[in-house]
Amino acid sequence: MGNTAVSMTRNFASLAAVAAALVATPAFAVLDNAAAEALMKKDNCAACHSIDKKVIGPAYVDVAAKYKGDKGAAAKLEKKVKEGGSGVWGPIPMPPNSNVSDADIKSLVEWILTLKK
Ligand code: HEC
Repeated sequence: MGNTAVSMTRNFASLAAVAAALVATPAFAVLDNAAAEALMKKDNCAACHSIDKKVIGPAYVDVAAKYKGDKGAAAKLEKKVKEGGSGVWGPIPMPPNSNVSDADIKSLVEWILTLKK
């Protein structure tokens, strides 16, 4: 009986260690939708973009569909978001997002590319 209690305590300790490791996510982990939407608001992307509707910029699900299977897409889009540009979705330019951190841009682009219609 005493042994069972001891091994349960040990199991609980190792579960706690696993949970702690999961919480300590790397900087560029793909975000879940709630975290990503918060970031979109914080970094002002939400002024022009929505996940599934065209606003001023394209819907993020359309961006994901366009670059599906394109291995270079993340790097290309990170640069585009940082520097701005036009002509891919129409004549309206995206202004440079130079006030947004590289880590935020990388996380947002990686999340956008995982979206499905
Ligand atoms: C002032 C409006 C505006 C803001 C703010 C804005 N965008 Fe855009 N975004 C646009 C427009 C317009 C386009 C289409 C540009 C084009 O046709 O090349 C675009 C295009 C994009 C694309 C696709 C680029 C391509 O070449 O296919 C991505 C990805 C994107 N935006 C992400 C973001 C992220 C992430 C943020 C926030 C950090 C952001 N945008 C902020 C207007 C905006």
